[in-house]
Amino acid sequence: MNTHPQHIAIIMDGNGRWAKKRLMPRTVGHARGAANVRQIVKAAHAVGLRYLTLFAFSSENWRRPPDEVSALMGLFLQYLESEVAEMKAAGIRLRVIGDRSAFAPLLQSRIDQAERDTAHNTGLNLTIAANYGGQWDVLTAVRAWQAAQPDRSLQELDPAALAKHLSTADLPDPELLIRTGGESRISNFLLWQTAYTELYFTDLHWPDFDDAALAKALQWYGQRVRRFGRTDEQVQHSSAAEHSPTPNLVIQKGIKIG
Ligand code: IPE
Ligand code: IPE
Ligand code: MG
Repeated sequence: MNTHPQHIAIIMDGNGRWAKKRLMPRTVGHARGAANVRQIVKAAHAVGLRYLTLFAFSSENWRRPPDEVSALMGLFLQYLESEVAEMKAAGIRLRVIGDRSAFAPLLQSRIDQAERDTAHNTGLNLTIAANYGGQWDVLTAVRAWQAAQPDRSLQELDPAALAKHLSTADLPDPELLIRTGGESRISNFLLWQTAYTELYFTDLHWPDFDDAALAKALQWYGQRVRRFGRTDEQVQHSSAAEHSPTPNLVIQKGIKIG
């Protein structure tokens, strides 16, 4: 039985279909989705979660119709303008990850300001992934590692060194990833950071994902056995098994196959 995770990441999918089902424009779904962010942030805070990371806009979402992209940018700006005061009061620290250089200057400055205004908060760490792509994150990290030490060979780069240059360098990896909207894929979200994350998929559309749905996901997480490559027996007896290959391991021969 796992304890509560300290970091949950969510792919907030299904806004468009939520609206379509109700014969409403997709933008209405996005607005309801934004309102739900508020609700889930509150719920996360209430259960004592330390880190919540939300996928709001992928690096591929620019491919959507310009009207929809423009509405999403507007909602993001409005969210920042209306929520930061409350975040400050609630002790929430906001971070935005992704390539923000593609955003309008006003949006960029609101993001910078929101991060500055909440930088000293020590409660829930809320991270919004906007114009984020997992492949971009890894590539950017490799380039940053190389730029920071131009004399070293890439052969010296290891996972821990790379992780220090990811956009999530200050966050632990998520123990639980939730995707709403019924699809079972990662869609270029946290590729590196989810290597051992428990993946939870629900058919609920994001505007319908409420406190009870979050509680259900947490309960599901509580029942997972996290092996990290070990066997069940090792996990049960919490043996301090080697993490890396055993040197001088004897190879057993003569095992009958089939
Ligand atoms: C998620 O909802 C929000 C964003 C990707 C910005 P969608 O807009 O993808 O909703 P569906 O998948 O079309 O229903
Ligand atoms: C993933 O949803 C991105 C966000 C939720 C922000 P998409 O709706 O863009 O994913 P695909 O295109 O169906 O994989
Ligand atoms: Mg979608």
